[in-house]
Amino acid sequence: MNKVEREWWRSATIYQIYPKSFCDSSDKGTGDINGIISKLDYLKTLGIDAIWLTPIYLSPMIDNGYDISDYYTINPDFGCMGDFDLLLENAHQRGIRIILDIVVNHTSTEHHWFKSALGNKESEYRDYYIWKDPINGQAPTNWVSKFGGNAWELDKKTDQYYLHLFAKEQADLNWENPNVRDQVKNIISFWAEKGVDGFRLDVINLISKQQDYLNDEQGDGRRFYTDGPRVHEYLRDLSESVFNKYGAVTVGEMSSTTLQECQKYSSLDGKELSMVFNFHHLKVDYAKGEKWTNAPFDFLQLKSIFNHWQQGMFAKGWSALFWCNHDQPRIVSRLGDDQQYRVESAKMLATSLHMMQGTPYIYQGEEIAMTNPGYSSIEQYRDLESTNMYEIMINKLGKNKQDVLAILAQKSRDNSRTPIQWDNTENGGFTKGVPWLGVAENYKKINVQQALADKNSVFHYYRKLIEIRKEVDVITTGDYSDLMPEHPQLFCYQRRSEQQTLICINNYYGESVECELPSNLQIQQGKYILGNYPELMLGKPQHLLKLEPYESRVLLIEHH
Ligand code: GLC
Repeated sequence: MNKVEREWWRSATIYQIYPKSFCDSSDKGTGDINGIISKLDYLKTLGIDAIWLTPIYLSPMIDNGYDISDYYTINPDFGCMGDFDLLLENAHQRGIRIILDIVVNHTSTEHHWFKSALGNKESEYRDYYIWKDPINGQAPTNWVSKFGGNAWELDKKTDQYYLHLFAKEQADLNWENPNVRDQVKNIISFWAEKGVDGFRLDVINLISKQQDYLNDEQGDGRRFYTDGPRVHEYLRDLSESVFNKYGAVTVGEMSSTTLQECQKYSSLDGKELSMVFNFHHLKVDYAKGEKWTNAPFDFLQLKSIFNHWQQGMFAKGWSALFWCNHDQPRIVSRLGDDQQYRVESAKMLATSLHMMQGTPYIYQGEEIAMTNPGYSSIEQYRDLESTNMYEIMINKLGKNKQDVLAILAQKSRDNSRTPIQWDNTENGGFTKGVPWLGVAENYKKINVQQALADKNSVFHYYRKLIEIRKEVDVITTGDYSDLMPEHPQLFCYQRRSEQQTLICINNYYGESVECELPSNLQIQQGKYILGNYPELMLGKPQHLLKLEPYESRVLLIEHH
């Protein structure tokens, strides 16, 4: 428990920047590091403790930087090393830490290791990647790439296939090779030596593959490489030799993982990672587990997933709390109402997440409740996953074009990648050039300038959430229980420590509802510390209350 109180990141809030869409300082249509520097004061006003930057290294940008061709160079689209040093210095001056994204499950096929390995079995880098002979003239297994199609690509010259769990331009590294692990340590040390404060580890639970490379008769192959046989060993080694040496905070992105594995990844002894992202709560709008569908979200399932993880991680591990990132549609469009109740529902969603145990992440634009852009033609999309899936759904699955476009408008990663809406001038003030991805049309109404000026804005509400986390201990330390797991409309949970009880009540729908709190709660002794409707409506705590559409209330009871 003392550990929980000691480490800065347990009561911190982290802000994620997707540099390409954040702020363009030189009118080329893509954001850059100088753009980020120019907005540090804005982030300081928000009150965040650290910034997680998605990859800024040299990359052919097939997957917007998640395909790295040189880990030691800044992508010139974003600036140069001097700009990065300046960012680090300016952020640190403001008390903001910097967390970099480390992508080491795979490299770009433009990386010099891969270029040397391709077509050359004798290359010293050949064994940095995963090569297999064809089986009956076909790919060695039926594994499916996360971006569609088979996960193996043929190297014609040597007649062997290499594995790519993502795009064919992202070749998986062979972590069985100790030289690969040493290279990863060198990369991390290089950035830690510069003064970087932490690392987000991209799809880190996929690095250890089962070595028998079997066909998957039941699925897409993920069970053979997810949370694989040596992953904990690799992470412990990395922590001991680099992360812990530099006191770096670490957050691992865990794809299709389990609670038991995440308890180990983020165990409180600090031997692996500080915390983990899991995605189960963001699959509640997948029809039968399939992402590329349009389906309403399953509210009871959402609550039960949170319950499972909040209770399961308590005193065992640590979660990163998040609704949005660069791979997920905007949450207000997804679980809220991005029209009539945009402000109320965005605040409610924020409240219901930020009062949980873990470290909250705010993805750029979430703090002003940016929405999905509602693209209506395939030409508007840039993301390779989206364009691949469009092809597959139409050409292989024979779906109708309008239906596919409707699915993309709900599920595409580009929904969250649209440029930040800074003000009501052209392109939302993001660039004076042509933005690489179209700005959402609602920028005149929804933008940072407006949000700063309006004291009831979503922005100012996020500020309060960040502040409250620092002031109210039980948010960091308390246990979790769902007070109404079966309620079809209310998400009401309790956090408890020896000193405090906190009750977080949320109406997830656009109709008002009566709520009766359990009679054993000493709520008369409590006080409201937050709500998303004008304060007058909060009144004195009572067991019976009426909640407005998307209303949230947070009640704190001090034990004496
Ligand atoms: C992670 C990233 C995503 C990327 C993928 C492959 O899931 O968040 O954007 O495409 O890994 O690196």
